[in-house]
Amino acid sequence: MTRYVLALDQGTTSSRAILFDLQGQPAGMAQEEYPQHFPQPGWVEHDPLDIWSSQLRVARQVLKDAHVDASQVAAIGIANQRETTVLWDRATGVPVAPAIVWQDRRTAEACDALRAAGKAPRIQANTGLELDAYFSATKLAWLLEHVPGARARAEKGELCFGTVDSWLAFKLTGRHVTDVSNASRTMLFNIHLLRWDGELLDLFGIPDTVLPEVVASSEEVGLTHAHLFGHPIPLTGIAGDQQAATFGQACHRQGMVKNTYGTGCFMLMHAGAQPVASTNRLLSTVGWKINGRTDYLLEGSVFMGGATVQWLRDGLGIIQQSADVEALALSVPDNGGVYMVPAFAGLGAPHWDPYARGTLVGMTRGTTKGHIARAAVEAIAYQSAELLDAMRRDAACPVTEMRADGGAARNDTLMQFQADLLGVPVVRPRVTETTALGAAYLAGLAVGFWRSREEIAAQWQAERRFEPRMADDERAERMARWARAVERSTGWAAH
Ligand code: G3P
Repeated sequence: MTRYVLALDQGTTSSRAILFDLQGQPAGMAQEEYPQHFPQPGWVEHDPLDIWSSQLRVARQVLKDAHVDASQVAAIGIANQRETTVLWDRATGVPVAPAIVWQDRRTAEACDALRAAGKAPRIQANTGLELDAYFSATKLAWLLEHVPGARARAEKGELCFGTVDSWLAFKLTGRHVTDVSNASRTMLFNIHLLRWDGELLDLFGIPDTVLPEVVASSEEVGLTHAHLFGHPIPLTGIAGDQQAATFGQACHRQGMVKNTYGTGCFMLMHAGAQPVASTNRLLSTVGWKINGRTDYLLEGSVFMGGATVQWLRDGLGIIQQSADVEALALSVPDNGGVYMVPAFAGLGAPHWDPYARGTLVGMTRGTTKGHIARAAVEAIAYQSAELLDAMRRDAACPVTEMRADGGAARNDTLMQFQADLLGVPVVRPRVTETTALGAAYLAGLAVGFWRSREEIAAQWQAERRFEPRMADDERAERMARWARAVERSTGWAAH
């Protein structure tokens, strides 16, 4: 009798595995951080073998700790850091280069050249994405160009390209696939036709021999190799982590919004059964495909969310651990006029400026580390508020609440300030492991573990609701000050 679904949540800084029971409750969790590599300023790499080995270890660990045999697991679902680009040898399964992580900016100039050549509108029309170094296309083109022999080998069909879902699925089952949600983040995928885009493959010089087969987000991909868990488990769910979190937050209807406060902040709104072309520099992206039906989302991504707090810990050393930020921020009555724009890796939506850099403004002799902590926490909320503003302008229907998850969503001060800035309630669910839960739901639906989206949506429960308390004029005044701070950070690192 199968009693669980196993979710693999392969994130930017850690690999996690969570077992869920029929009620959608976590029955065990294992997590492992793995090394980050910064070989040059602006570069971010992972070793694909670290990604795989840490993911496999935590998957085995959670089964062991929960005393669950693989035969009791109905299915596996993958949720993964998106866009990160892996290239490996099809025959040996060995990577031919480090993975280029989504945060990596090495291809910013290649994007500038394409923009100067007038390619951005076409790219946006076909893929729903902004022309930016964030996405996989220019990263893959860089690998084919710089890894000795890669292009020739790719053309002969000897190499496989994939985002992290694809890499894990290959290691788990031997199949070279990706799901539609991850494909939609490569900047090589036509989100209207739901297939690889020949025009863009030509533009980026990508041979179609390296591409994975595109599958639905909820369907049987294959069985895991028997030696991995002692018993084969069907891999039946795949989605990019942000799409998975949106699914796990039960945002099934148009206009429903979630924001995940992780390394970055990722706000996604259900946009319906057709892609919405953003006029406010948001991304239009595939949410998931289930039983032949595709749901689309609008997305705004902020590159530095919780990572801003990590910088206070690791870069400045003013807190011991991330959770200490709330107390330090509350040690002062307000931000004392200090604003931090955490553009350490450029700015994402709605600014899309790879040359913006981190900025701290408004300091006086009275400024303390408390004010800096306060400004850092507030910056997370300001950036998210800009995203929701853009979404409201793009959306066909009003936004009535925002569902929050991710590590920093535990920070009550941040959640209240967020509700104040948004002017709509922020709701935190009981199960905050929404990314993993979404992957579990997608996998479980494919094998009948759960029967319908309605059954899943009924499992979602609020833990706490933060009502907005700030007056409209104060909100407008603060947002205007924030905008002035952002102006000061933009373009800083441009040549
Ligand atoms: O687009 C990047 C995103 O998928 C990374 O998510 O959770 O690893 O920060 P996370």
